[in-house]
Amino acid sequence: MIVFDEVNKSYREGGVTRPVLSAVSFEIDKGEFVAIQGPSGSGKSTLLNLMAGLDVPDSGTILIDGQRISSMNEHRRTLFRRRNIGFVFQAYNLIPTLSVAENIGFSIELNHLESDFSGRVSELLEQIGLADRGNSYPDHLSGGEQQRVAIARAIAHMPRLVLADEPTGNLDIQAEKTVMNLMSRLHRKHETTLVVATHSTEVASQANRTLHLQTQKDS
Ligand SMILES: Nc1ncnc2c1ncn2[C@@H]1O[C@H](COP(=O)(O)OP(=O)(O)O)[C@@H](O)[C@H]1O
Ligand SMILES: [Mg+2]
Repeated sequence: MIVFDEVNKSYREGGVTRPVLSAVSFEIDKGEFVAIQGPSGSGKSTLLNLMAGLDVPDSGTILIDGQRISSMNEHRRTLFRRRNIGFVFQAYNLIPTLSVAENIGFSIELNHLESDFSGRVSELLEQIGLADRGNSYPDHLSGGEQQRVAIARAIAHMPRLVLADEPTGNLDIQAEKTVMNLMSRLHRKHETTLVVATHSTEVASQANRTLHLQTQKDS
């Protein structure tokens, strides 16, 4: 499902090159739930952004579902991402001026161009335990509830790959549990591949496998 082969990524800032990922190679099978752990600054977000095609590596190859995302142009990467990938962010990133149902529906509209998706939105609201909150606005929900909406939005177009960057980083322990139970359940039900960057050993313990990143020294 996912192949990283000798992937290098560094950032240049003020004449200094900072290597972040150095010759990173691994494979993730279809349907796996993999946690990415490592200290702050070790490149977890960079790795997920490369996987999502939000950025490209300096060298090396990235395959997603057999497609070489690392050599696609930006336009093709955007289309590929919309169709195949769902992304969950630490800060939820819901659209504040849209209701909960509209946030989820917007994602379906963007991805599928379906005209009538109210049934699908209701089904998703049911699955995340917020059936009665479709008309609420994001800032009237708790952090845990907003993240459940973000998860519904990420899976609404039935992507084969779901990526989450510190999805419980802003949540208390109880909300973290609820969010992770939801992610695990949806992962098993839909047989999606799930990759989660996390500081939480609790979250990582639910994964099939953990990849550890180390901080690179400046060159
Ligand atoms: N756009 C960028 N420009 C310059 N440096 C960056 C950029 N994004 C990340 N970095 C640097 O790359 C390193 C890895 O960052 P990141 O992938 O966000 O790590 P993590 O998610 O593990 O905390 C950090 O040293 C960070 O400062
Ligand atoms: Mg990060």
